[in-house]
Amino acid sequence: MNDVNLSATPLYCDDPRLTAALQYVLENSGKRLRSRLVMASFRMLSEEAEDSATSAATAIEWLHTYSLVHDDLPAMDNDELRRGKPTVHTVYDDATAILIGDGLQAAAFALIAEDDRLSTDTRLKLITLVSNAVGFKGMVGGQALDMAAEGRASSFDQLRLIHEQKTGALIRAAVLSGAVCANATEQDMQRLDEFAGTIGLAFQVADDILDVTQNSATLGKTAGKDIAVEKSTYVSCLGLKGAQDEAEKLLANALACLEPYGSRAKPLLDLAIAMVRREH
Ligand code: IPE
Ligand code: IPE
Ligand code: MG
Ligand code: MG
Ligand code: MG
Repeated sequence: MNDVNLSATPLYCDDPRLTAALQYVLENSGKRLRSRLVMASFRMLSEEAEDSATSAATAIEWLHTYSLVHDDLPAMDNDELRRGKPTVHTVYDDATAILIGDGLQAAAFALIAEDDRLSTDTRLKLITLVSNAVGFKGMVGGQALDMAAEGRASSFDQLRLIHEQKTGALIRAAVLSGAVCANATEQDMQRLDEFAGTIGLAFQVADDILDVTQNSATLGKTAGKDIAVEKSTYVSCLGLKGAQDEAEKLLANALACLEPYGSRAKPLLDLAIAMVRREH
């Protein structure tokens, strides 16, 4: 399965500085886990050409990129390193970074809305699914809860809610978008919903673990950040070993959801393992 070409629809605007900053952000595309999830879930359920899922995959990767650009801003996590390079607001300025996020979000929805390879019904389903995932009960709401939780201890249930919203929601939307593009049955949607919710949580537990076990060079972003801002994480709640055990337990539960699909699930299964047992 090939990676989606995220530059197939080039993004530019009339302002050369914003265009240059956008190129700076997009040429450094990260692990691309979410677009791979879209494609792997689509591939598991459909024999059709992968074209039908590429706009959803690209849109979700753009939305994820927007979330990182804003997450790194001084008003949020105030980070200077992302994907091994200086963050866009340090290279350009805060206003440019804000506009890049805003523009990527709009472009993501336009990409799906204008994809005439998809039926209007599919486009509407995708836009509904993905917009909810990045909205007030998804990524944005989770980011607010996450920032409010700095400097004080959170209960385990509150922490899980934060993780499910700030990170899990978009991962869930990625898996389900692939299924929507494959015209999945209700039963497939339910199975994949459970898989996606579980692997999304496991992914953020792994992020919490890596924050304490890796250095900034390996991560390509500032290590030790969560402790520095006294953030409750799975590691602070359960200890390192407890968090690692929890991540493995969640991974096993997620993989069990794919059993009905046999060997067709292999790419999705491999991706799930890579999302949890990663080094950066
Ligand atoms: C980082 O996500 C932000 C979180 C949600 C924890 P990734 O680890 O997928 O970041 P990239 O896309 O590979 O840079
Ligand atoms: C950010 O979570 C998740 C989103 C961008 C929605 P973090 O703040 O933990 O992500 P990193 O560690 O900076 O990548
Ligand atoms: Mg953050
Ligand atoms: Mg951050
Ligand atoms: Mg983090």
